[in-house]
Amino acid sequence: MCFFEENLVPELVGLSRDGSVAVITVDNPPVNALKHDMRVGLIEAFAQARNDAGVAAVVLMAAGRTFIAGADITEFDKPPRTPATGDVIDAIEAMPKPVIAALHGTPLGGGLEVALGCHFRIAAPGTRLGLPEIKLGLMPGAGGTQRLPRLVGMEQAMAMILSGDPIPADQALASGLIDEIAEGDLRAAGIAFAKRILAERRPLTRARDREDKLAALRADPKPFDDLAAPHLKRGRGLEAPKAAIEALRWALDLPVDDALRRERDTFIALRNGEQAKAQRHIFFAEREAAKISDLPRDVKGRDIARAAVIGAGTMGGGIAMNFANAGIPVTIVETGDEALKRGLGVIEKNYQASAKRGAMSADSVQKRLALIEGTTDIGKIADADLVIEAVFEDMDVKRDVFGKLDRLTKSGAVLATNTSYLDVNAISDMTQRPSSVVGMHFFSPANVMKLLEIVRGAKTAPDILATAMSVGRKIGKVPVVVGVCHGFVGNRMLRLRSIESERLLLEGALPQDVDGALTEFGFPMGPFAMGDLAGLDISWRMRKAQGARAEIADQLCEQGRFGQKTGKGFYLYEAGARTPVPDPEVERLILATAQRLGVIRKALDRKEIIERLLFPMINEGARILEEGIAQRPGDIDVIWVYGYGFPRWRGGPMFYADSLGLPYIRDRLIQFARQTGDPRHEPAPLLARLAEAGEGFASLSRTS
Ligand code: 3HC
Ligand code: NAI
Repeated sequence: MCFFEENLVPELVGLSRDGSVAVITVDNPPVNALKHDMRVGLIEAFAQARNDAGVAAVVLMAAGRTFIAGADITEFDKPPRTPATGDVIDAIEAMPKPVIAALHGTPLGGGLEVALGCHFRIAAPGTRLGLPEIKLGLMPGAGGTQRLPRLVGMEQAMAMILSGDPIPADQALASGLIDEIAEGDLRAAGIAFAKRILAERRPLTRARDREDKLAALRADPKPFDDLAAPHLKRGRGLEAPKAAIEALRWALDLPVDDALRRERDTFIALRNGEQAKAQRHIFFAEREAAKISDLPRDVKGRDIARAAVIGAGTMGGGIAMNFANAGIPVTIVETGDEALKRGLGVIEKNYQASAKRGAMSADSVQKRLALIEGTTDIGKIADADLVIEAVFEDMDVKRDVFGKLDRLTKSGAVLATNTSYLDVNAISDMTQRPSSVVGMHFFSPANVMKLLEIVRGAKTAPDILATAMSVGRKIGKVPVVVGVCHGFVGNRMLRLRSIESERLLLEGALPQDVDGALTEFGFPMGPFAMGDLAGLDISWRMRKAQGARAEIADQLCEQGRFGQKTGKGFYLYEAGARTPVPDPEVERLILATAQRLGVIRKALDRKEIIERLLFPMINEGARILEEGIAQRPGDIDVIWVYGYGFPRWRGGPMFYADSLGLPYIRDRLIQFARQTGDPRHEPAPLLARLAEAGEGFASLSRTS
């Protein structure tokens, strides 16, 4: 029962009482980000509770959908203001009365750190707790690196801080991060827990004083390096993982107050750095991409209770898995029993591999497989709310399929195509209901890659578009709206990079030079290793169909060198291995081709290679913006980070361009156009205009 209500910072922090238990409730929708005024309010609320002789214990909780989900990231571009989160935590930790954090939703980052400063923690079932700072190019800055290892041990703390992934409540309970899982009403549970603590006169345990879980490592710190090594390897080129490991080491080496001070200083240095700025940009760009600027607010997506996928090939199988993973029943249609069996077999093998890795239980595999129904009878799609076509990239085949979809699906069904290059408007016009047709362009492997380009046709209805976006999010993708053109956004830009990679081979680089420059830049793979992995024959076939030619790649294919699957491509592969080994034969072929074509090769350094590969792509990005194919530069960045491995910490191609300055890029493009004679390198009008005005692409988002 509540005896008095008093609001401190009216909307942000409330204080109420139930007998001798004070309940402090924060309320800053949507995610209770810990903004400055809330920090002020919390310090004030705890001071009141401390000074009130009638208060014997405090429960800290949050209104709305989640406990504090972290610091307010929008404040990170401004100078730090006190009180900092660490000051709030100091005030809580120093309370002479027990403080219980009652958690729900996603206590993350600074939110979890506040909870770590409380003396006890309980959580509602379904709560997910984590320190995701690493995903923003940061490390915890309010005690997370010191208190978490003291509560859960170094191994688990390192895993949480270095992956940034949250853990579920039951795991948090098992590891000692929380004291109890609270069923039922959380406020009541918090108060009951507080009363129990008081009745039992349980001592107040401050996480900072706990030493038991670190004692063994202090005596023998060698395992620390072993634990850290894989994280450091994975975070190569990144500042935050190195800094986080260092801070965790302080938990073993330094007095806790020194460690906390250094942690805060390092956090601020990272926060002010370029890598964190780029990652913040992607965080907000991803959320912005979910918004469609000209879609009326009241347009709602339709419910998708049942999905169907046409074609169980490379893409269809992976697409179907996404639905099964999200608990949505899905029917896969194939032309014949053999193709169907093969497709379903691949799906099962993928799930079994996840189970073998420990990423999924056997039960979960069975549940997902049970949601997938394979058939050769296309009539079975009659009750699907969404059908995604993933058949051969051939207009005639698509026409045949969409004719059938038009006849067989119920009215109101969303008809989607996964085409990579074909004209979505032409596809939609093959039906009597073009407004129901939309592109849903997944990336390979479709069950893994997060990007989903949602291709908006000229006639796509607003609610169909909204449905494609919402179902995309439901199946765990990052959907981005794009317009109709050859290759949409991602592949259209990639094409420019592919053309340049080939050119660079003739001009003076070898495949390993080009790939090496891109991996050093931060891409997981370069174009040649990637081509070998995907199979060089696919693009060869496409080029032949278009009457196009790529000198080196075509000759390799003519020799039967299709990449990894034939053991040879741009590189050599030892039997069963995936490691590319430079091949002197390929070098000879490149030199001979250059000579035959009269190209005088010269050494190219990595900077030149990167500029030649990325600047033309950025230029194409500018054209894409001007044509309205992408809504905003941030959308292009999200596409490249989630679909093509552009290093997140460089913020995507358009953000990267701004960081270099557009005048420099314009001038280099003019040189490239002269050098190669390729008119595509002439600066796009938008890029030239922005460069002239001393603006960046970001200025377009500010005015939109
Ligand atoms: N600060 C400011 N705004 C935030 C925010 C934050 N920490 N977290 C989310 N938001 C905003 C989003 O930008 C979005 O705004 P919009 O509606 O205007 O686009 C809105 O809140 C809702 O966010 P989502 O669309 O992401 O909502 P979801 O329900 O899908 O996800 C979430 C909720 C899991 C909390 C997710 O938003 C998230 O992961 N947020 C970031 C959490 C985080 O990184 N916390 C650590 C911050 S760093 C820190 O705490 C430093 C400390 O160590 C000192
Ligand atoms: P695929 O050749 O691996 O699979 C196509 C499947 O469709 C085959 O199993 C075939 O039997 C089946 N099929 C053909 N006609 C059919 C019909 N009338 N009814 C039912 N099934 C039929 O091709 P993939 O790579 O899966 O590509 C499919 C589509 O996805 C294409 O439009 C492609 O451009 C696009 N795409 C491909 C990507 C990739 O990396 N492979 C990436 C993104 C999109």
